Amino acid sequence: MSESIPAELFVLLRTARHVVVLTGAGVSAESGIPTFRNKMMGLWERYEAEELARADAFRRDRALVWGWYEWRRKLVMLAQPNPAHLAIAALAERTPRLTVITQNVDDLHERAGSRGVIHLHGEIQRPRCFACNRPFAFGPGIPDEPEGGRRLEPPRCAHCNGYIRPGVVWFGEMLPQDAWKAAAKACEACDLMFVVGTSALVHPAASLPEIAARRGVPTVQVNPNATALDDVMRFNLTGAAGEIMPRLL
Ligand code: APR
Repeated sequence: MSESIPAELFVLLRTARHVVVLTGAGVSAESGIPTFRNKMMGLWERYEAEELARADAFRRDRALVWGWYEWRRKLVMLAQPNPAHLAIAALAERTPRLTVITQNVDDLHERAGSRGVIHLHGEIQRPRCFACNRPFAFGPGIPDEPEGGRRLEPPRCAHCNGYIRPGVVWFGEMLPQDAWKAAAKACEACDLMFVVGTSALVHPAASLPEIAARRGVPTVQVNPNATALDDVMRFNLTGAAGEIMPRLL
């Protein structure tokens, strides 16, 4: 077992009226979805996630980038919510208000039962046309991607014949403004904030905890490793999300 949880934190949780939970790749790590700063495998071994997750990479080699996202979409569809996702959903039932803000493009929070999840970085199941921006609907079923991944041409848009791009926010792109505004507003209003499984290296998402911290709101980080937020957060709970979140519940 990791360190003990301060008693004060249980009091804060019991009396909180609006809890915000900001999550990153670490919350899905125990579901088998690799985080971004892990070494990549198979066809992707030679690349860093940051090299593939950008518009210029898609323009240069769309089959490489689309293949990578289809391989990741398969991982997401085969994955199951873990005790951290489930505890966050259950916490919402015991709190007057709880807002989940995630940087993840998977739907594991939703599948665990969380409602109204704010996706700052898009959703892997919601691709759209790179040319005209219209949404594209995937067919049913899990993508038939081989173990190590493969190159794959993206489908074409039924309206303009443009290429379909992944429904995620790439490096250098703006966040969806409605999601960003809702996230910032929740951080302005909450009276307790959890930050779970994010390296807090990617802005502007990483600046959300500071909004709450600046207001003097208690902030709690859950992460097995040190992050850029260690000095910003009031409580640092060192350990895996799947172990600590159920204990908080
Ligand atoms: N429980 C909690 N945290 C964990 C666990 C776990 N079981 N395993 C790993 N972590 C932590 C790591 O210590 C690290 O701090 O999760 C964090 C994952 O960091 P990143 O891979 O950088 O993921 P994230 O912070 O979500 O990345 C932000 O960067 O690549 C972009 O758009 C992508 O949304 C992503 C953004």
